[in-house]
Amino acid sequence: MHPLQWVLQVQRSLGWGPLASVSWLSLRICRAHSSLSSTTCPSPERQEDGARKDFSSRLATGPTFQHFLRSTSAPQEKLSSEVEDPPPYLMMDELLGRERKVYLETYGCQMNVNDTEIAWSILQKSGYLRTRNLQEADVILLVTCSIREKAEQTIWNRLHQLKALKTRRPRSRVPLRIGILGCMAERLKEEILNREKMVDVLAGPDAYRDLPRLLAVAESGQQAANVLLSLDETYADVMPVQTSPSATSAFVSIMRGCDNMCSYCIVPFTRGRERSRPIASILEEVKKLSEQGLKEVTLLGQNVNSFRDNSEVQFNNAVSTNLSRGFTTNYKAKQGGLRFAHLLDQVSRVDPEMRIRFTSPHPKDFPDEVLQLIHERDNICKQIHLPAQSGSSRVLEAMRRGYSREAYVELVHHIKESIPGVSLSSDFIAGFCGETEEDHVQTVSLLREVQYNTGFLFAYSMRQKTRAYHRLKDDVPEEVKLRRLEELITVFREEATKANQMSVGCTQLVLVEGLSKRSATDLCGRNDGNLKVIFPDAEMEDVNNPGLRVRAQPGDYVLVKITSASSQTLRGHVLCRTTLKDSSANC
Ligand code: 5AD
Ligand code: SF4
Repeated sequence: MHPLQWVLQVQRSLGWGPLASVSWLSLRICRAHSSLSSTTCPSPERQEDGARKDFSSRLATGPTFQHFLRSTSAPQEKLSSEVEDPPPYLMMDELLGRERKVYLETYGCQMNVNDTEIAWSILQKSGYLRTRNLQEADVILLVTCSIREKAEQTIWNRLHQLKALKTRRPRSRVPLRIGILGCMAERLKEEILNREKMVDVLAGPDAYRDLPRLLAVAESGQQAANVLLSLDETYADVMPVQTSPSATSAFVSIMRGCDNMCSYCIVPFTRGRERSRPIASILEEVKKLSEQGLKEVTLLGQNVNSFRDNSEVQFNNAVSTNLSRGFTTNYKAKQGGLRFAHLLDQVSRVDPEMRIRFTSPHPKDFPDEVLQLIHERDNICKQIHLPAQSGSSRVLEAMRRGYSREAYVELVHHIKESIPGVSLSSDFIAGFCGETEEDHVQTVSLLREVQYNTGFLFAYSMRQKTRAYHRLKDDVPEEVKLRRLEELITVFREEATKANQMSVGCTQLVLVEGLSKRSATDLCGRNDGNLKVIFPDAEMEDVNNPGLRVRAQPGDYVLVKITSASSQTLRGHVLCRTTLKDSSANC
């Protein structure tokens, strides 16, 4: 596999809230001034469409400015009667999916996988059906990523393929509708509608509740968009649908957005301001997943450990935030609220047999309370993602990461002391603006010094809107970026192999996922550090039922003796079936 492919990181009621109202207002403006195309504007070739005329006449009796004011004056109060009200200019049955089949395709990070399930949960409640067969689809929705140029290029290429599907569609079938969801919709807005006339719907990451309306507008033959970002949308009340009934693990979104404004990153512009989901709704979801028998939950967010639940006023006292030593923020210090350590403590108490992981954190938010909890609690995995991005203090400053190489290294040592046997992973960017050969060498040396178990490495891709775009020069030639990236990958692999080989001879607790992809006689699972462990499917003893011989099933915890290790996988043989509480992994 090409290293570039290898490095791709495969990194949630339904109601009409204030956002939708803002979009209705924009929709009226759009009718009067057709140049404002960021909401719902007819595409020229559909001007004669009878359905549109009908829609336009109903639009004239649409919401008033007062309606908009009422909705925005109390953004937090979503009264249940408001939640149930459909917008006045669309009939209730037009908002229903009428069993139209939706095909969802996800690109990018794990947040997008979760967003796909939020979008699907909303559409399912609205009467849509889901299909895994593209040819069967009435609606195709792409959940998109903008983090690097290449990610966006993949979507443009996919849209060209889908165009053919749309034009070839027999007239006997309902017209195929295509929607762009997520970061790319947010970043490019009307540019997508203008470039690709065949795109019917655009929905930014905070606009998924509006999907039934946007699709209803698209049904009338118009393009429809909602790319408004919210200060409070967390989809707390939208339970994502578990797509794979046999899954052993699930992702639970705990916060959205990012306030860090690292100079290279588009995320604060596409996903908006940082906001946390109330703890009570997170715990409710984790309890449901535990009742369904899931054995692992990964708490998800752009900045998970910056979590701050301010929903309960009694906790909004002026206690200032503890940052990791030597770390600063690009924003004014925040105060009060229930923090990540509290959430982690609560979540890990739900089910002692459920493993808890979290991603992606920022190194600045690792106070001792968090480290101590990870060390003490059996079911919190001893695995920390600690994105360094660069090993050079000079580059880190240009990236506005809020720490130096020295502060980062000190944190690594502190984590390794606080959590013996901890497994570390990181993200690195090769060829950031102004990166010299000396800076690159420093990144190589950081990889050697820390010896990460897992790494995600990327070539820098300049993004519009970011601070780097406005203030810095993308001056490292493409071939130099790629050469440095390959060097980082080589060094990372060497060091990860060494780090993983330390497990050889140890007995590790593995959560079984299922059959190995490469061999029908092998099973595959993950150890506490989230490394893949392969072992032959063999009979073994069940420690809770002495004398009983069993074979491992997905969702079982088994003890595996590790016999070999590579940079990405461990191999071994199974010893017995056990429980998380009873296990005594000896390394
Ligand atoms: N170019 C390359 N990599 C990037 N990342 C974020 N923005 C960029 C960019 N413009 C990487 C960072 C981040 C990971 C999710 O993606 O390493 O941690
Ligand atoms: Fe981007 Fe930095 Fe926020 Fe991560 S912490 S999402 S890299 S701005």
